[in-house]
Amino acid sequence: ATNRTFTMLKPDSVEKGNIGAILEKITASGFRIVAMKLTHLTTQDAQAFYEVHSERPFYGELVEYMTRGPVVAAILEKDNAVEDFRTLIGATNPDDAAEGTIRKLYAASMGENAVHGSDSDENAAIEGAFHFSGREMF
Ligand code: CMP
Repeated sequence: ATNRTFTMLKPDSVEKGNIGAILEKITASGFRIVAMKLTHLTTQDAQAFYEVHSERPFYGELVEYMTRGPVVAAILEKDNAVEDFRTLIGATNPDDAAEGTIRKLYAASMGENAVHGSDSDENAAIEGAFHFSGREMF
């Protein structure tokens, strides 16, 4: 079924000038852009967004990284969007990511891994609503 996922092209992708190439790969893979913007997460935003990781040792580092510069936030639509997007981005650790995946191509490390993809339909809806109002979705 056609459904939606949520992505962020993380600060390292913006800093390195990789957002055009990554968006090209996303649209060429059949995802339709439903909503998109450049936005800068506050510390509070990042802490809330990654609340599920708050007890992890890398939480502080993750919040620092995600707030150090702007991100591209977007909602994407496609048949089987959540699963297909996670396949397209590749494993969290770029060393484990398959050839041709976005993380294999553009991620520096497990921490700075270029792109976010929702892990379930439920989280995609929550994450999309965190960043966009109904009138920003098309
Ligand atoms: P993502 O899967 O999009 O969301 C959680 C993020 O936490 C993950 O991307 C990485 O950026 C980060 N992360 C996960 N595991 C580690 C780790 N072991 N060390 C540092 N950062 C991590």
